[in-house]
Amino acid sequence: MDFERVVEQRFMCRSYEARDVPNEAIDRILDLALRFPSAGHTQPQEFVVVRDPETRKRLARAAVHQLYAAEAPVMIVVVSDTRRSKARYHERGERFYSIVDGAFAAMLVLLAAVNEGLGAAFVGAFDDDAVRAVLELPRVVRPIGLIPIGYCAEGRPNLRRFRKEQIVHYERWEERGLSDGPPPA
Ligand SMILES: Cc1cc2nc3c(=O)[nH]c(=O)nc-3n(C[C@H](O)[C@H](O)[C@H](O)COP(=O)(O)O)c2cc1C
Repeated sequence: MDFERVVEQRFMCRSYEARDVPNEAIDRILDLALRFPSAGHTQPQEFVVVRDPETRKRLARAAVHQLYAAEAPVMIVVVSDTRRSKARYHERGERFYSIVDGAFAAMLVLLAAVNEGLGAAFVGAFDDDAVRAVLELPRVVRPIGLIPIGYCAEGRPNLRRFRKEQIVHYERWEERGLSDGPPPA
C-alpha cells in the first residue's frame, strides 16, 4: 500500500472479527516496527506478542476493562527497557526518551498493521503494575501501549480534526483559543 493511503486508512479499530491473523503477517509488522528511531540509538523498545486468549483478557482487564482489546486474536505490547535509556541519558532518558521511543515503535506497529489490511488500536489507559504482573515485566521495563491487531469489524469513523490553519504555526506559536478542543460538528 502506498504511504499516503496507509496514513489515511489508519484509525483505532475497536471491534474485531474472530478470524485469526497469520504469523507471517505479524512477522512482517514486526519487521517494519523494528525500524523505530530511538534517542541516541539506545533502542529501549521491545515487543511482547500475545496470542493466548486468557492472557489477552487479563491485559484487557488491566486496561480499565477495555474488553474489546481482547477480541483481536493478537496483541502486541510495546515496552521500553528504561535501563538502556537511563544508562545514556539519566533522568531525561528514563522519564521521557524511553516513552517517546516506545510511542514511535507503537506508531510503526499501527501503520504496518494497516499495510497488511488489518486493524489495530493503541490502548494507553492501563494500570502499569497490572500489565507488569501479567507479562512478568520487571519494574525497569515500562509498558507503553497494548496494541490489539486483527481483521477490523467496523469502518473508519469520521472524527472531526483540527484544520491546518488552526494548529500549524509559522515562526512562532500564538494563542488561538483551542484549549477546549475542536468545535462540535
Ligand atoms: C496516548 C494514547 C492513549 C490512548 N489510549 C486509548 C485507550 O486506552 N483506549 C482506546 O480505545 N483508545 C485509546 N487511544 C486512541 C485514541 O482515542 C484515538 O487515537 C483518538 O480518538 C483519535 O482516533 P483515531 O486514532 O482513530 O484517529 C489512545 C491514543 C493515544 C495517543
